[in-house]
Amino acid sequence: SPISAPDLSKCARGTNLNTQQPLDVNCCPPPSQKIIDYKLPPVTKMRFRPAAHLASQEYMAKYEKAVALMKALPEDDPRSFMQQANVHCAYCNLTYEQTGDPSMRLQIHNSWHFFPWHRWYLYFYERILGKLIDDPTFGLPFWNWDNPSGIVMPNMFVNKDSPLFNPRRNQDHLPPAITDLNYAGKPTTDPSKIIPNNLTEMYSEMIRNVATLEDFYGAKYVTGSKPDPGPGTVERGSHTALHVWVGQATPSGEDMGNFYSAGRESLFFSHHANVDRLWSIWRGLRGSKAKDFAESDWLNANFLFYDENAQLVRVKVADTLENPKMGYVFQEVDLPWLKNRP
Ligand code: C2O
Repeated sequence: SPISAPDLSKCARGTNLNTQQPLDVNCCPPPSQKIIDYKLPPVTKMRFRPAAHLASQEYMAKYEKAVALMKALPEDDPRSFMQQANVHCAYCNLTYEQTGDPSMRLQIHNSWHFFPWHRWYLYFYERILGKLIDDPTFGLPFWNWDNPSGIVMPNMFVNKDSPLFNPRRNQDHLPPAITDLNYAGKPTTDPSKIIPNNLTEMYSEMIRNVATLEDFYGAKYVTGSKPDPGPGTVERGSHTALHVWVGQATPSGEDMGNFYSAGRESLFFSHHANVDRLWSIWRGLRGSKAKDFAESDWLNANFLFYDENAQLVRVKVADTLENPKMGYVFQEVDLPWLKNRP
């Protein structure tokens, strides 16, 4: 049967998956007596997610203000910056029992829930920020790392006085360092190859290496499954490479290079906004081929999140398939890798 919403009261101290030691932080969410089945609200105003490197000064200021307000919320408010970061930890670091199989713990990565779960995570994060600045059109800027023009860390994250700044980044990878989508912990020997290799990598993840739906989404993961049945092309490839590329400020990868701490890194949300965008683009490239699993084990899987009103809601995968129905669209930019058939 599909993965179903965890019982928050059974959340326990998780595991640091880089060191395999018990976590030294508690990332369980605050409890709530009431859970509402979430219905996508009618879309009256569309949110717009711009490419971070193209966003205006004004836009950046708005985003910074929203994040500053989020950081200023009381610590136990489920919408506060740290609580939001902990949502990622709770769903990744084996803190929850699987509902229906208490012998198994929940980890939504490296499986077919990678895209839908992160879509919901960003969806609420974005709505919380929008609410804090009273802007129902606010959308998260995406880090356009699949395009050579968006290939360095976006400027808005580099200013030390900004609430988007994080000292726990690999200091060798601040601009003008160019992102390496094949990064596995060591600098590339020939820097002139990074851009052509990035374009080839994108083409492979989005087209060449995708024969089945599992190839793109990741492997089936249901109640009773062990963690990590297998990631899809993007999750395994560019997505993980950039987690490692940005992180590595400490031996165990904090913040961005470790599951429990990745959500403390503002860049995470722009990184994942791009992953989310790639999912939508991939669907658009499928033509008449299947875009989603038709199985109830995927469509009816459900998770819990706190919404922008601090209400605990139950959401399902089936509601994530079309981003405009969720009330947001992406700025359209070139896809140079599409012409980069190796
Ligand atoms: Cu939930 Cu990029 O990892």
